[in-house]
Amino acid sequence: MVSQREERIAVVALFEKWVCSGKAGIFTEPCWQTPRTMCPRRGWVLSSGRRNLGCGNSPAAVPLAGGRRRGGGQAWPGRAGRSRRAFYKERSGANSSRSFEKHRESYARNTVKLLRNTALKPLKMAEQFIVDSPAVKYSKEYIEADYAYQTTRVFTDNGITKVKPCSTKFTFRTERRVPKLGVMLVGWGGNNGTTVTAAVLANKLGLSWMTKNGPKFANYYGSMLQASTVCLGTSASGDVYVPFCNLLPMVNPNDIVFDGWDISSLNLADAMKRAEVLDWQLQEQLRPHMEKMKPRPSIYIPEFIAANQEDRADHVLQGTKAEQVQQIRQDIQDFKMKSGVEKVIVLWTANTERFCDLIPGVNDTAYNLLKAIECDREVSPSTLFAVASILEGCAYINGSPQNTFVPGAVELAIKNKVFIGGDDFKSGQTKIKSVLVDFLISSGLKTVSIVSYNHLGNNDGKNLSAPQQFRSKEISKSNVVDDMVQSNPILYAPDEKPDHCVVIKYVPYVGDSKRAMDEYTSEIMMGGSNTIVLHNTCEDSLLASPLILDLVVLTELCQRITFRTEEDPEFQTFHSVLSILSFLCKAPLVPEGTPVVNALFRQRSCIENILRACIGLTPQNHMLLEHKMQRSFVSLKRPNKSYLHEPIAKKRATAISNGYHTKAIANGHKNGLSRAGTNGHLEIDN
Ligand SMILES: NC(=O)c1ccc[n+]([C@@H]2O[C@H](COP(=O)([O-])OP(=O)(O)OC[C@H]3O[C@@H](n4cnc5c(N)ncnc54)[C@H](O)[C@@H]3O)[C@@H](O)[C@H]2O)c1
Repeated sequence: MVSQREERIAVVALFEKWVCSGKAGIFTEPCWQTPRTMCPRRGWVLSSGRRNLGCGNSPAAVPLAGGRRRGGGQAWPGRAGRSRRAFYKERSGANSSRSFEKHRESYARNTVKLLRNTALKPLKMAEQFIVDSPAVKYSKEYIEADYAYQTTRVFTDNGITKVKPCSTKFTFRTERRVPKLGVMLVGWGGNNGTTVTAAVLANKLGLSWMTKNGPKFANYYGSMLQASTVCLGTSASGDVYVPFCNLLPMVNPNDIVFDGWDISSLNLADAMKRAEVLDWQLQEQLRPHMEKMKPRPSIYIPEFIAANQEDRADHVLQGTKAEQVQQIRQDIQDFKMKSGVEKVIVLWTANTERFCDLIPGVNDTAYNLLKAIECDREVSPSTLFAVASILEGCAYINGSPQNTFVPGAVELAIKNKVFIGGDDFKSGQTKIKSVLVDFLISSGLKTVSIVSYNHLGNNDGKNLSAPQQFRSKEISKSNVVDDMVQSNPILYAPDEKPDHCVVIKYVPYVGDSKRAMDEYTSEIMMGGSNTIVLHNTCEDSLLASPLILDLVVLTELCQRITFRTEEDPEFQTFHSVLSILSFLCKAPLVPEGTPVVNALFRQRSCIENILRACIGLTPQNHMLLEHKMQRSFVSLKRPNKSYLHEPIAKKRATAISNGYHTKAIANGHKNGLSRAGTNGHLEIDN
């Protein structure tokens, strides 16, 4: 039951969301600058340092009457010389004896009513749910779900291709208790490292700040888990969505504790300033928190990154490789002990390194790799970090393109049953590519040339201006369409691929605001061609930071999921090479011999459907069969209930096309098909 007070709060919050979305023409000047937060677990919540309005994660705050926030906040900047009460009173048109709260509520109510009838409709969100099925059990410790995994086997029998549907019975078990998570970033003082730390702090503190475009509020946009939804199912009033992060118990990013290493000694506040990513007013608010954070000294082997990075390397470990690995292990233990976190995940977001040669006897097996470290042979810093993390039992994720996971490192992870994931965050140009080429090829268009130019001016761009480091990026970007091409032998011969060219240039002026320009050319019907040109401004670190959060939150969740099959009744974990992370990576790392999927929506479905399986729900199949039948098997809410059982001709008369109720079928127009329908066999009653 929603109390009246909660309802009032929700109305005001919705109103404010609209104001903050910038769509409100009513407030031309900034309204107020109270701290507030979007809590994805509970929808929009007004927030304040003073009053908790029920959102478990965030402090709550309401703008206070009388032109000032108590507790030293900013003054109400409404129209000059007037109180907020007067402001709301005027707009709500209410009588003058009402209190400020009443005026505000009345104004909010009217506005929300207006909104409900216009574009901004809130999603129906189910906050918490239980799955009501005999196949799903909830205990204090676990959610356990029986699940039939349907696959299809294709084989040849006496020259005939046979296709056999198969079903395997799984039991998924998910630990419900969410641990306190620590994340250690290698390259903590870089653009991504500082941005993700700042973003989490800003969300945790519910910060807002002014920009020339109006007030901005901390959020987790760009995080699939925090800011996207999944459809749970259909209720009497339509589809019901939940935030992705509500499917199973997951770490709330606000609760993550950060630590890390950098070869540059700047504290995180100064490093954030150097990065030039976040608005200054936000930086000022974060400074007191971030200047206390200082990266630990790191492993620096100059030959692996560009020579132009040398001037920031003033914070480096000394000693042999074995001693340095030992120091990293001690750092992890120290962090765990001092912060009280229960689990640590280590993530490389340091400079792109050059590729490492794969040398038999050096990095081909776990044993040889450990021996190579002892003997001070060539091992890259990112691989040294991987080894230290794995030996500490901490999952390790590689956000850069280099081949950190040499065969010896993969074997070490498998032996120690530790998760590894990578490579290279899929944040901008590649993300689009993995959607666009999938769309083109699955539409039957033969993409023959893909040309990608980038220019960027941040430190990543500076490092990538060196040929060897650029080569790592080029390799990571080059294979992203392979699976889509191979899936269509109608268009492509066995070894045929589109021409694919990637160029990256360093242009300091554009800073972190990377520009990506792509040209896709496809052959179309009867010798024609189709060329698509895109210009994509990617604020690099603001796109990469939510991916970092998704990577660690998903990895942590996977550590709590075990499963078994009927044939193999002992519970097991996912494979150490955590390929479920592919959605977030440019060059997904997968277990040897298994398919690499680059197509973005297939990657997302993989995550969604595995999490659905953990709660005993079938995969999203998008068939919507119940809406495609003459007599549906479920009761569906329609404008007119009897409609469901009426003959098809009448049904079509109220078909919805392009969002309109129309009389005829196609494109919302009566298009001359009045008697014979589009397929020539349906009668339409006009
Ligand atoms: N959208 C994106 O931002 C994006 C997308 C995909 C991949 N990446 C990759 O993420 C990485 C980080 O990007 P960024 O923009 O934060 O770069 P950055 O140059 O701003 O930060 C990297 C940081 O790593 C530090 N560093 C270098 N070598 C180190 C070592 N051995 N140990 C510890 N610290 C070390 C540097 O001092 C620097 O502070 C890059 O490799 C980049 O290619 C970024």
